[in-house]
Amino acid sequence: MCGIVGYIGSQKASPILLAGLTKLEYRGYDSAGIAIIEDGKIDVQKDQGRVSNLYKIKEIENLNGTIGIAHTRWATHGTPSKENAHPQTSNNGDFAVVHNGIIENYVELRKELEEKGYKFFSSTDTEVIPNLIDYFYKNDNKNQKELKFVNAVKNATDKLVGSFAIEVLSKENPDNMIVVRKDSPLVIGKGYGENYIASDIPAILSYTKDFYLLENLEFALLSRDNIRFFDKNLKEFNKKSDTITWNAMAADKNGYEDYMLKEIYEQPTAIRETIGTRVNTGICKFDELNFTKEYLQNLKQIYIVACGTAMHAGLAVKSTIERFSKIRTEVDIASEFRYRDPLIDDKTLCIFISQSGETADTIAALKLSKEKGAKTLAISNVIGSSITREADYSIYTHAGPEIAVASTKAYTSQITLLTLLAIYLGQVLGNVKEQEVSKLVNEMLELPIKVEEVLKTTEKVKKIAKKLYQEKDVFYLGRGVDYTTAEEASLKLKEISYIHSEGYPAGELKHGTIALIEKGVNVIGIMTNKNLVKKTISNMEEIITRGAVTTAVLSESIYKDINTTIFDNLIIVPDTDESLSSIVTIVPLQLLAYYIAKEKGLDVDKPRNLAKSVTVE
Ligand code: AGP
Repeated sequence: MCGIVGYIGSQKASPILLAGLTKLEYRGYDSAGIAIIEDGKIDVQKDQGRVSNLYKIKEIENLNGTIGIAHTRWATHGTPSKENAHPQTSNNGDFAVVHNGIIENYVELRKELEEKGYKFFSSTDTEVIPNLIDYFYKNDNKNQKELKFVNAVKNATDKLVGSFAIEVLSKENPDNMIVVRKDSPLVIGKGYGENYIASDIPAILSYTKDFYLLENLEFALLSRDNIRFFDKNLKEFNKKSDTITWNAMAADKNGYEDYMLKEIYEQPTAIRETIGTRVNTGICKFDELNFTKEYLQNLKQIYIVACGTAMHAGLAVKSTIERFSKIRTEVDIASEFRYRDPLIDDKTLCIFISQSGETADTIAALKLSKEKGAKTLAISNVIGSSITREADYSIYTHAGPEIAVASTKAYTSQITLLTLLAIYLGQVLGNVKEQEVSKLVNEMLELPIKVEEVLKTTEKVKKIAKKLYQEKDVFYLGRGVDYTTAEEASLKLKEISYIHSEGYPAGELKHGTIALIEKGVNVIGIMTNKNLVKKTISNMEEIITRGAVTTAVLSESIYKDINTTIFDNLIIVPDTDESLSSIVTIVPLQLLAYYIAKEKGLDVDKPRNLAKSVTVE
């Protein structure tokens, strides 16, 4: 997830662009850059590191151009570096582009362009875009300049597979800028004699409250006094603007009341960007790893080690990793693992999950594993974090920075990435059948849509939250991966609503804990696995006879199959592959915890006693 900003008007563009990037740093900050049209050429200034580094570039101060684009990056392709920073330009410098999203077919496009004589200087997917535009622009002899520019951008984006929000500058069109989006956010701010572009409203809300929200594959040709809109067939049309009534505080959360709610709603994008281009050839791609079949065949054990929600992500994928790799896989809490002298040697692969990459216990466990000869693989959401610098290998979720203390989008992205890793291990080992992989991959590609579907049940979840928010105890029950979801849902509730809660294996209840069930106690039963549902229903019936108030979280097919009248509340989630059900099922329970905490008037983003990253033991 990256941040993009653009400006065209009568003021010096650079200060507006830098201020906008600073507001968008929550979307990514491993490198940043700007491009401004000045004296008939496109001047690009960029560097690795945070936006603040741009303020130190002297040349930017001397740029007086009044049209420009800017970008703050969250690397998906190519490590954070100056050459991989955006804007990316065409070989001849005639076009500059900033891009948020992922071009899944960039490898093929790169080859096509190289055959046409283009060269590439970065390892980004984005660099194909300005060169495609240049190619089509140079080969268009029928249109006059402005429409030639629009046609070139249209022909270029027609070749892109994936998600994109792009801003384009053209040296030959110094009084225009073109923007277009598909699946990545982009808004246009309407000014007087000037116009603004941004990934989201907060970056430019201080300049205007009138916005155009571009739909997928709509093009906009901006000049200082006008904005022309074209549909996906380049048919020009008039677009109505919206007026935003947010206050500045709400703006930082892009209109959401809290970062946590915003991040819950960002999960479809986070999952889509974490999948990225790893599966578009049917073979699960992890260029960051060089595990050989022989190395994996010699492995005796995989440990997944983490804390809190990250540990739950490991639990959610343990059986998938075992299913595909046939290697015994254990999940451990880092603060326990590091003190129990675990049996580890060079035949052990240790995987460490950490959103922040700074959790002290997890880093300590990693160091211990290395001392004992294990290979170590870090999974983090922050490029260049401590844990990734310590590990032998690192792979990244692309959830974008997660601000709220309660982890949501990082969790579902971790499960997504770990499932891809499981497929990769199986494919290297030659353990998996093609149709088994393609079935799971197809389900995975459907995940963003299914999560978007679940997010539409928010109003129902809000109503249940109103019934539960004064409770003192809530139990979450589940079997198999639903038990993991129960644990994660319980942690979400505890950490932001301060209500005591337990995630419990449904089959274990009768071995003691059922003594706590009495009239009015709230129990949330999670049932998404057809093979286990009958058992969990009988557990739920046992507690209903003891007076419990029950909420059932059911997959659609189970909902249609069972008598749901015994439950007080229902939450239905779409069916998906068992390996992925914890992603779909946790979303309404994240929302439930959120709305319960809101009903209690608590600070959801900064819960008491908690820090976003526990860098001390
Ligand atoms: C999650 O909602 C909690 N804030 C906490 O359990 C967190 O998952 C844990 O501290 C691990 O953090 P990390 O992923 O940054 O290592």
